[in-house]
Amino acid sequence: MRLSWLITLPAVLSVASALMVEKRDADFLSVRTKQRKDMSGKRGDRKDKYFHESTFHPHYDGRFAEKQLPYHERRVALSNLIQTYLATMNDLGVETWLMHGTLLGWWWNRKILPWDSDSDVQMSEKSMTYLATFYNMTVFHYKTPRIPDGRDYMLEINPHYVNREQTDKMNVIDARWIDTSSGLFIDMTTARYNYTHPAGEGMLSCKDGHEYRDTYIFPLRDTYFEGTPAKIPFAYKEVLEAEYGPKSLTLKDYADHRFDDQKLEWIPMPKPLKKPEDQKVITPPKKVEEKKVEVKKPEEKKPEEKKPEEKKPEEKKPEEKKPEEKKPEEKKPEVKKAEEKKVEEKKPEQAAQKEAQTTLATKTRAAILKVRESSPPTVNPPSPPPKI
Ligand SMILES: *[C@@H]1O[C@H](CO)[C@@H](O)[C@H](O)[C@H]1NC(C)=O
Ligand SMILES: *[C@@H]1O[C@H](CO)[C@@H](O)[C@H](O)[C@H]1NC(C)=O
Repeated sequence: MRLSWLITLPAVLSVASALMVEKRDADFLSVRTKQRKDMSGKRGDRKDKYFHESTFHPHYDGRFAEKQLPYHERRVALSNLIQTYLATMNDLGVETWLMHGTLLGWWWNRKILPWDSDSDVQMSEKSMTYLATFYNMTVFHYKTPRIPDGRDYMLEINPHYVNREQTDKMNVIDARWIDTSSGLFIDMTTARYNYTHPAGEGMLSCKDGHEYRDTYIFPLRDTYFEGTPAKIPFAYKEVLEAEYGPKSLTLKDYADHRFDDQKLEWIPMPKPLKKPEDQKVITPPKKVEEKKVEVKKPEEKKPEEKKPEEKKPEEKKPEEKKPEEKKPEEKKPEVKKAEEKKVEEKKPEQAAQKEAQTTLATKTRAAILKVRESSPPTVNPPSPPPKI
């Protein structure tokens, strides 16, 4: 008996793995655009991994590109990527929200962090099922003033999205929104209700190990990102602090950039004898700050556990704080006041158009600062969110 079982077992396993081999990202030839050669990094990838990052950079799809974009072009491409994604999901009636480094970029100036090379969004399980059922491999063509030449974006859903378990470590990304001209993409993950979570009901888990109490996510807040309507988690500040540490919300020197409070922009700090292109490969050392997982704030997972195979090298590292950095509570009100005053002083000698521009910029700025100052309630979270 026992012996026959031992003989059968390897056979069963090999059948299972043979089935899994079929589940690769859509074949290069089936989605080929301009490239002669497939640059997908399948070499090191396990057989059951669906999405393959390129051989030259983990944030490019090797079926569509063979090299990284220079700094400026990448920023434009990433901006177009998230704008088209948000617009498409809005058209399809799919509710999606910004997360991780993308949410952090929103916090600072409602834009993608310039050293980032991908974007992260989440959605509910129901939404992911809807996209998988009706829109897998759909190509959306966008020709807009910002994309005058037109561009194709492809939505690809990982068939492993039906596996809810975190043990499926090769497939923590449930779907991708891919720019078929540059190979850049947005990682889409599902926040699933976890019915067996020790903290009880209302816990959301992602396959990449992130967990959130649903009252931290829902009800979503409406906002703008890269000039496009977008949604963010209800308790965005807590979510960001839990993931990146409180300093990530105040530290103004990071990854060879400095945040300019007047322009509300991250300005690259020029490095002598280096072309701007060189700044794109920023690999700060691994984040070391650790936080304990609490039942109340379950999203405070150890950062190291995040996406083990799809690690983002440019992840923000808050502990690099400069000693002279001031706390926002002390600095912000002053900065805001100074700015308002300046605009008033300028009034008499400025041309009307310039004044209008300045006023708009000041308003936007004030709105952003207000958002930063207001902290969502933590003691009494809002009414129970919708359950799937
Ligand atoms: C989406 O389409 C690709 C290409 O045909 C396929 O490999 C993949 O399994 C599909 N995903 C889903 C969720 O069906
Ligand atoms: C539910 O949460 C537990 C504890 O964090 C985790 O081990 C498990 O993988 C989660 N289940 C799902 C389906 O995400």
